[in-house]
Amino acid sequence: MHAREIRRGIEYIATVHWERRLFDSLIPLPDGTSYNAYLVRGSDATALIDSTDPVLRHELLAQLEAEPRLDYVVSQHSEQDHSGTIPDVLARFPAATLVCSPKAEAMVTTHLGVPAERIRTVDDGECIDLGGKTLQFVHTPWVHWPETMCTYVAEDKCLFSCDFFGSHLATTDCFVSDRARVYEAAKRYYAEIMMPFRSVIVRNLAKLDRLDFDLIAPSHGPVYDQPGFILDAYRDWVSPRLKNEVVLPYISMHGSTERMAKALIDSLARRGITVHAFDLAATDIGKLAIALVDAATLIVGTPTVHVGPHPAVYYAAHLANLLRPKVKYAAIFGSYGWSSKAIEQIAGLIPNLKVEVLGTVLQKGLPTPDTLRQLDDLADAVARAHNADEAIVT
Ligand code: FEO
Repeated sequence: MHAREIRRGIEYIATVHWERRLFDSLIPLPDGTSYNAYLVRGSDATALIDSTDPVLRHELLAQLEAEPRLDYVVSQHSEQDHSGTIPDVLARFPAATLVCSPKAEAMVTTHLGVPAERIRTVDDGECIDLGGKTLQFVHTPWVHWPETMCTYVAEDKCLFSCDFFGSHLATTDCFVSDRARVYEAAKRYYAEIMMPFRSVIVRNLAKLDRLDFDLIAPSHGPVYDQPGFILDAYRDWVSPRLKNEVVLPYISMHGSTERMAKALIDSLARRGITVHAFDLAATDIGKLAIALVDAATLIVGTPTVHVGPHPAVYYAAHLANLLRPKVKYAAIFGSYGWSSKAIEQIAGLIPNLKVEVLGTVLQKGLPTPDTLRQLDDLADAVARAHNADEAIVT
């Protein structure tokens, strides 16, 4: 995508990966993504902030082709989707210095092979004067790697946030135009990438609050020219508030667990609880992650495979454990043919979730009227817990 000026002397160079559908061989990208680099031109020096994924290196290098000089290349984050083309940029501009946080120094050496003499590390709050534009580096560790930092240009009230506030969204838009679409993509991004670091993000949001900016330029997705929109969203996602919602991933082999799931979904809905149900045989795992951002309760349903949970449930439970959502309550249900340790094994998969277990229902073979009564009792327990919890918005 051609370079576009977002502030006088600041250009947005988005390389848009329209066709990418999986990130890190793990994260679904239903709407593609972009890797954004920014050129910041002062009267004395020019800096490039971040680069692009190596697969699109030719697009970034083409945009820089006519650039007469580059003094600095700022690596805000060493993950290769932003830093992977830095060696090519440094080769094209042999006088340029790579700027990164001290923790990134070893990473750009080991991950990218950048020679030590090309690297300048910057401390938290340190500045580089480009002439009329000052780059101030703001360390934001664990958002989402230990070395990550943002860059602030006070003269233009502009914050370059890298992954922070980013959205996996392939678009020709320079600025956010469709808030609902960007909100969904940014929430997916938060859920899959940032949620495990919720408490750290709270601290980093407070740190950014001290800066005066009216533009957030992330390294994925469009630029926020009204940053209150995404700041409010992040504050909501990291807040201790929960919603009167249940996330219910399940899978079924011969129909018993599915019947139990459908009965429980109906029982919960009758009690005014919103249920996000996911048949794991056909689920976009990113949608499941999004639902986990706000929900108060996680309920997992599984048939038994060789005594334990179905492998798809094993994967989903492991993923939920890694993402560390703020759920406070949990329950497990399922079915089996002759014996089962599925409930114990699922419970063992989610040690990171500090949840109160509200009940378990395990059925041999087809659900009976008594099974349905047990599921109704479980729905009652969920409703009681939600109604009594002041952190849950009902
Ligand atoms: Fe967009 Fe953590 O890389």
